Amino acid sequence: METEPAIDAAPAHVEPPRPPVVVALLNQKGGVGKTTSTVNLGAALARFGRRVLLVDLDPQSNLSLHFGVEATPEQRSIRDLLLDPGCTLDDVVQQARPGLDFVPAVTELALVEGELAQMDGMQGILRGKLEAAAGRYDVVLLDCPPSLGVLSVNALTAADEVFVPMQAHYLPLRGLEKLLQTVHLVAQGLNPSIRVTGILLCMHDRSSGHGRAVIGEIESQFEQFRGSDVPWAGATVLRPPVRRNIKLAEAPSFGQTIFDYAPRCPGAADYRELARGLLERWGHATDVFEGAPRARAKAARQTGRAPRAKAAKAKRVAKPKRATTPKRAGKPKRVAKAAKETVGSKADRARKRAKSPARAKSPARAKPPKVAKPPKRAAARPSSRAAARPAARRRAIRSGGLSL
Ligand SMILES: Nc1ncnc2c1ncn2[C@@H]1O[C@H](COP(=O)(O)OP(=O)(O)OP(=O)(O)O)[C@@H](O)[C@H]1O
Ligand SMILES: [Mg+2]
Repeated sequence: METEPAIDAAPAHVEPPRPPVVVALLNQKGGVGKTTSTVNLGAALARFGRRVLLVDLDPQSNLSLHFGVEATPEQRSIRDLLLDPGCTLDDVVQQARPGLDFVPAVTELALVEGELAQMDGMQGILRGKLEAAAGRYDVVLLDCPPSLGVLSVNALTAADEVFVPMQAHYLPLRGLEKLLQTVHLVAQGLNPSIRVTGILLCMHDRSSGHGRAVIGEIESQFEQFRGSDVPWAGATVLRPPVRRNIKLAEAPSFGQTIFDYAPRCPGAADYRELARGLLERWGHATDVFEGAPRARAKAARQTGRAPRAKAAKAKRVAKPKRATTPKRAGKPKRVAKAAKETVGSKADRARKRAKSPARAKSPARAKPPKVAKPPKRAAARPSSRAAARPAARRRAIRSGGLSL
């Protein structure tokens, strides 16, 4: 028979386990940064010492590919977790990094929507499976597919919070209304406590006036709902926006997170600061962030690619300066010919000179003909029409923006 441990034997510092914060990263629009954010935000949270679970709910299984895993139909995946009542989280979870687990997806997941539709209480299956593993994780991130079907509804039923990854452009802003309506429907029945808490701006261009206008529009629209009971009453634009950074697009091809691949790049800095802000909001410590020294060099050794510093040096040596190549600088053909004639040994040139005594100077010494200058760039000052454009765009956003 099991005996209860004596109360005074428990160490004073042990906190009771708290349930994980479950966040759905949702946007029915494709290619907005849902998977990139799930992976790299998750990796940042894990480096802050949190226990993180990522769930791939997308039949494209891009999240799994970020960790270099291409699940086969025989492997157990999110499909089994959703369709097999006997399948538990333990059966499908894989470890990606220390403190970072994930549930892979398979292409066959696309067929699950139809099968799930036949099942009773199908919207709450994921929630039930995650609840059974309460206490194991601090944060669960759900990478949703680019649709508002059964899989996304399962995510919304399981989630405490919704983050909406999007670009600060006009058209994605219009798509936000449909998404918020779907969350509202879920909040009215399946999951009354769900809240849209963050707009996560991805591929952000800080210098764009249009981007700044859209951010202003989102914030002023959400401001109107403060204190109301709609699920997005507390929504904010999460800071910092994640800048467009090619390293974020390259990292998955190495099966790596941004912190493995390029820990010092702007993309890594943005996801780290985003994670810090969220942990502070959720009441977790943020004093330790595990760095990744020399991770890039290690990755290069594994993949056989030259590390960046070496590759850049090689480039500097091998690449001729652009302006001196005859074609790019717009040199006329005869200049190229004259340049060609200078190539060859000293003896060759002496032979040529002997053949053509009439020439006073060797081609090498001859004054080079004037080279046509490349056309000047357009004037820096914008035309009056171009100058008027941002204002016109702002008006368009105001008149056609969110009407929640
Ligand atoms: N900040 C960024 N800078 C540069 N490229 C990015 C950034 N964020 C994402 N990308 C790239 O944009 C593309 C789309 O990103 P991602 O796959 O994360 O979007 P998604 O919303 O998950 O797409 P889908 O709806 O198809 O699942 C990817 O190639 C990704 O590498
Ligand atoms: Mg995706």
